[in-house]
Amino acid sequence: MKIFGKLVVFAIIMVLAACGGNGEGNEGSAEASEEQKVLKMATSADFPPFESRDPQGNFEGFDIDLAHIIAKELGYKLEIEDMKFDGLIGALQAGRVDFVMAGMSATEKRKKNVEFSTEYNHSGEMFISQPDSTIKSLEDLKGKTVGVQLGTIQEEGAEKLSEKYGFEVKKLDNSSVLIQELKSNRVDVAYMDKTVAVGYIEEQGLAGFDDPTSSSPGMGIAFPKGSDLVDDVNKVLKKLEENGKLQELKDKWLKDSQ
Ligand code: ARG
Repeated sequence: MKIFGKLVVFAIIMVLAACGGNGEGNEGSAEASEEQKVLKMATSADFPPFESRDPQGNFEGFDIDLAHIIAKELGYKLEIEDMKFDGLIGALQAGRVDFVMAGMSATEKRKKNVEFSTEYNHSGEMFISQPDSTIKSLEDLKGKTVGVQLGTIQEEGAEKLSEKYGFEVKKLDNSSVLIQELKSNRVDVAYMDKTVAVGYIEEQGLAGFDDPTSSSPGMGIAFPKGSDLVDDVNKVLKKLEENGKLQELKDKWLKDSQ
């Protein structure tokens, strides 16, 4: 009976300890995923060569390769979730995923809500048009429709430029659909990251011109505020930069990057 009583007390303490360790918030979920050795990443796989899906539906691209390398270096299994670009920051804030890689520019505005790794790539902006289009500069955009992806820096940039250059902004939640809209004349130009634009232009025989006003920051890996992972990931990024592996990945996937 005595031993039984002790066991009961012991069991109660264990249950209480388990509840205590299961607190809410980012720290709690980071701890849980460390135990299971799984890192949850979210992306918006509509953005080749950074992230897209092959015909079998497998994720592929620069960010995907880099994410796998980072997870391996840190001893985690990687799980990737596909979502709309404009839902990514919310997923981080809600602690539903451990990090985001989605060609995401590390802007000051986003830094109010999430934390970024050191920047791993930089790309300017471009306007993409049909090959026979007469639109060749910002001035030619007057009265036209410019397509952008929702939640991107291009959405914000286009809104600003539209006041000066007199065009309409059409917002779509998927950047591959944006290219389809361009090809079927539902938008006159698509406005996106240069590295991605150059790929579409070459692959699909489109035309385009650089945005002369662009001054966007480089791309970073985004984490929930206060995540313990940031330092570890930065260390891996530094190592990959020093041993040439990052450059190797850029050579494999990106034609137009610094
Ligand atoms: N670099 C731009 C931004 O941060 C666009 C990124 C879009 N990424 C994507 N996976 N669709 O806003």
